[in-house]
Amino acid sequence: MDKFVIEGGRRLYGSVRAQSAKNSVLPLLAACILTEDEVTIREAPPITDVGCMAQILRELGAEVRFSGEDVTVSSAGAGEHRISSALTKELRSSVFMLGSLLARFKRAAIAYPGGCDIGLRPIDLHLSALARLGVKIEEREGYIFCTCDRLEGAEIVLDFPSVGATENILLSAVLAKGRTVLSGAAKEPEIVDLQNFLNAMGANIRGAGTDTVVIDGVRSLHGTTYLPVKDRIEAGTYLIACAAAGGEIEVEGVKAEHLGLLLHKLRENSCKIHAKNDKIRITSAGRLRCNRKIETLPFPGFPTDLQAQMVALNCVADGCALVVENLFETRFKYVPELKKMGADIEINGRSAVVRGVEKLHGATLVCKDLRGGAALVLAALAAEGPSEIVGLSHVDRGYADFDGKLKKLGAKIARVRA
Ligand code: EPZ
Repeated sequence: MDKFVIEGGRRLYGSVRAQSAKNSVLPLLAACILTEDEVTIREAPPITDVGCMAQILRELGAEVRFSGEDVTVSSAGAGEHRISSALTKELRSSVFMLGSLLARFKRAAIAYPGGCDIGLRPIDLHLSALARLGVKIEEREGYIFCTCDRLEGAEIVLDFPSVGATENILLSAVLAKGRTVLSGAAKEPEIVDLQNFLNAMGANIRGAGTDTVVIDGVRSLHGTTYLPVKDRIEAGTYLIACAAAGGEIEVEGVKAEHLGLLLHKLRENSCKIHAKNDKIRITSAGRLRCNRKIETLPFPGFPTDLQAQMVALNCVADGCALVVENLFETRFKYVPELKKMGADIEINGRSAVVRGVEKLHGATLVCKDLRGGAALVLAALAAEGPSEIVGLSHVDRGYADFDGKLKKLGAKIARVRA
């Protein structure tokens, strides 16, 4: 069990390169099972969610080889269509294996992924979409059993632009007979990345990034080598770290338009932002101003995966901020930890009222989930004095070399055996 030991109060300077996007690499790995050819995903981040997805692919009989950060999957030998409950519980996003297993084997079985640290996270939108494509679904003994004679293209409307459901529909419709028209699709950059990846494998998909995606089924897909889009959430986390701790950093590899409203919000805090091509520079000097209101929404609205980090920033800004979490039911579990540091936050259901204080003081903190854990690290960097942070398995799910990258920016942070 490791812990972070952080000495707060140091400004950050320098540059950091974003990793490939966790929330793109995971569906891309699921898509590898759609062909018997070898597929290589370049620069996959060495994070535990990627390791877990590799484990799931191996359980299905695929061969997964890492060479540096490149991962090569060959699933000629894959034949298993069932994913164990242990792995589904560990990695909720394994639910989009359903789509790719059905497209490959016409059957799939996964343990019900169930809720997690941030909410119930049902999969009704996934299952109703698969049913539209001709999948028979049976839920028994905690498992979901899916079978189909052949996937048939269909018109599908999503009541809510679910990222995972949109990805599952692309993964199952890509080899279906005929055309699928998906309306109400999620528009996140990771959906566009999945479309580009599948088209590089010979698929015929267009419209990702808009409300309507058209997938013309093809007979088979072939291998490819692909460099995923960079991680806008990891990049945003470093930008917010600099805003909270002060200083000037540059984050490389991420497009400004992929960060949506974050840059606008950081300017509202009175940070200076300069974005050119895939480089974003932020300068933060003196006491920041609180955001009047932050509402999390599907892309291109403010990303829920940066909500906790922005609450941490507003804790040390001047004024009062209202933060509304519209995507998940319980995504404020990190707040009691911030209160240990002297933060003034009031939670009422899905809303948090944050009253900025001059300074937070260091404390011993416990990570409860991935992005809440990242928020604790940011608060500790901005606080006065030492902090210790345990529960690092949560942040290791999504941040490669988190302490190493922060140290390179001048933070006083060490990862030690707890
Ligand atoms: C993806 O999760 C991301 N994970 C999440 O990132 C991200 O927070 C989320 O999209 C929203 O952007 C990956 O890409 C691996 P959703 P996903 O389906 O697909 C409800 C992180 O920190 N819903 O868009 O699970 C659901 O309950 C993670 O990197 C249904 O009601 O998100 C939630 O309230 C956390 N029925 C909302 O939609 C369904 O069938 C958004 O869920 C599916 C979803």
